[in-house]
Amino acid sequence: LDVPCKVVITAPEGEDPHPRFGKVEMSHAKHRNVSCVSCHHMFDGCGDFQKCADCHIDRDDRSYERGFYKAWHSESEISCRGCHKAMKAKNEQTGPIGCLQGCHEAAQK
Ligand code: HEC
Ligand code: HEC
Ligand code: HEC
Repeated sequence: LDVPCKVVITAPEGEDPHPRFGKVEMSHAKHRNVSCVSCHHMFDGCGDFQKCADCHIDRDDRSYERGFYKAWHSESEISCRGCHKAMKAKNEQTGPIGCLQGCHEAAQK
């Protein structure tokens, strides 16, 4: 299994990225102390690691729990923002919460 050091989260294949929120980078290396299944919540412990966007396909409805937006932003601790927010509330060192702090500012350049 080859875990990419960095992944680029963008629109599912065949679709155009959002004009303002084009691409977001996530570093596996910087999340090395976070357990794989905290993010890869559908991983059973063996077999393949699927892309989030293989299942989180719907890009129209931001309130749909299985949609593309929620995977990264929901209040659930599986999501990027949800985990960072919960950790921050406990005063633990974590990642960004605001849109332009480490996620979408690169996308807007
Ligand atoms: C902080 C969240 C997070 C953690 C922790 C994490 N990953 Fe990932 N991983 C992702 C995201 C996000 C992607 C890209 C998904 C996408 O493009 O839809 C990804 C992609 C992958 C891919 C590539 C999948 C593909 O088909 O391109 C593999 C393999 C992978 N992760 C394995 C691991 C392993 C093994 C661990 C634990 C050692 C781990 N990941 C920990 C979030 C995480
Ligand atoms: C095999 C399909 C599948 C994959 C792969 C998958 N998810 Fe999910 N995800 C779901 C389903 C289905 C749900 C709805 C709740 C449930 O059944 O667990 C969900 C729910 C969620 C939620 C909760 C949404 C809410 O409303 O609070 C988050 C966050 C999430 N997924 C993030 C991710 C991330 C991040 C990845 C990739 C690292 C990922 N998912 C990979 C299918 C998947
Ligand atoms: C389960 C918790 C958790 C989830 C989910 C999570 N992160 Fe993080 N993230 C962390 C922690 C903990 C750190 C701080 C790591 C450190 O500094 O040692 C971090 C740090 C970061 C940083 C700052 C790293 C740097 O460059 O200095 C970024 C950016 C980031 N996360 C993006 C993401 C993205 C994008 C996702 C979703 C694909 C994600 N994170 C999902 C826990 C999480």
